[in-house]
Amino acid sequence: MDKMVIEGGFPLVGEVSISGSKNASLPIIVSSIMFDNFDSEIDNVPDLEDIKTIKKLLISLGAEIKKTDDANKLIINTSGIDNYDAPYDLVKTMRASVLVLGPLLAKYKRARVSLPGGCAIGARPIDFHLNALRLLGATVKVDHGYVEVFADKLKGAVINFPIPSVTGTENVIMAATLAEGTTVIKNAAREPEIDDMILALNNGGANIKRIEPSVISINGVKKLNRLYHRVIPDRIEAGTFMVASAITKGDIILKNLNVNHLGSIIEKLSEAGAKIIINSSSSIRIKGSKVIKSVDISTAPYPDFPTDMQAQMMALMTISCGLCVITENVFENRFMHVAELIRLGANIKIRNNFAIVKGAIKLSGAEVMATDLRASASLVLAGLASSDGLTAISRIYHLDRGYEKMEKKLANLGAIISRVKENDISALPGEESNFNDIACSKSA
Ligand code: UD1
Repeated sequence: MDKMVIEGGFPLVGEVSISGSKNASLPIIVSSIMFDNFDSEIDNVPDLEDIKTIKKLLISLGAEIKKTDDANKLIINTSGIDNYDAPYDLVKTMRASVLVLGPLLAKYKRARVSLPGGCAIGARPIDFHLNALRLLGATVKVDHGYVEVFADKLKGAVINFPIPSVTGTENVIMAATLAEGTTVIKNAAREPEIDDMILALNNGGANIKRIEPSVISINGVKKLNRLYHRVIPDRIEAGTFMVASAITKGDIILKNLNVNHLGSIIEKLSEAGAKIIINSSSSIRIKGSKVIKSVDISTAPYPDFPTDMQAQMMALMTISCGLCVITENVFENRFMHVAELIRLGANIKIRNNFAIVKGAIKLSGAEVMATDLRASASLVLAGLASSDGLTAISRIYHLDRGYEKMEKKLANLGAIISRVKENDISALPGEESNFNDIACSKSA
């Protein structure tokens, strides 16, 4: 197992290109199952572990993934699909594997998928997905840790989600795309990744409309032609690099992003004192300020502040001037990073679903452990801000699930970061830190 070792305390400066969105790629890749023209082509797919997992899953169903010279282009041939089971081994490593339920049911009228079980950030059930598929006419059986769905045919229905679910909305859209009649999803999730999937499906012949911000209507069609799509940029990767600039008091230009998807992140970072210049709809410059202000953060479904950025913002708040409250409203157990940030010197207390962060401290390097994907990003960010000693982050495979070439991108911005084998305790070459103390000015 690899560890990430960081010598922090240096402002990050330069340009970084944002990769394609992981969470948009996953449903779009599995939607290839539904297309009649078996050759699908998807561009701007990030080269990371969750994508490898979904590729393995498609291959296990009988699809072929063709080799291309471009690591970010996928050519998938789904003509050989003859298996409708998503096994435990794959689903347990990535719960988004449940996304095959919708397209397999739509195209082959059956699917069997291992129940994802709990994960580090909470119980995360799939009851909304299953109840909605029942309403579309599917029989749902849960047995031996697997959920099995089958139907003679699917018929449009009105689905009302109790709370918006991202993959739930995607699963139902895919199932309804080839159903008879019209399906209306109320209280649908509004994340841009869903609209990217809708665009990919509509370009292939589907008839899906977001008729109100939280209402989606799907007029079933007989068949889909060809999947040919370029995935949107990853707004969470973009947000993470924006925090990297703010937390190191750096100056980073981010390219190949979609500014329109970053509203709540831009707002909170600006409130925290970062200077954000929007160069164009796909480029942002963010300059960290010497004094980071405390800002309260409350996560909620899009367009509000994303739960997937909560841990990274918390890392930033650990060196802010003052006190703030970070409230996690989406997942019940998404504070696993707190104990590790405390090891780096942070002052955080958890009360139910909120964390009270007292800033204005200096972080110092330590050995820490990544517990989930975004928690690992927060530890990398805190490590970059730790001006005293090295930070070594173990279980870094969590980071590899969702960030493409993260250490390479950070190193290009001037970070001193390297990946070492778990047992390799040799330190990085020491260099004087030029990071100014994180003292708060009285004017803050
Ligand atoms: C997706 C994202 C994940 C992000 C999350 C919230 C992907 C692959 N993953 O996860 O990165 O953190 O949205 O923005 O896109 N819920 C139920 N029953 C269900 C479904 C959901 O109770 O059947 C609850 C969940 O436990 C959670 C809330 O609904 O409290 C929202 O979860 P959901 O939007 O479904 O998250 P995912 O789609 O799993």
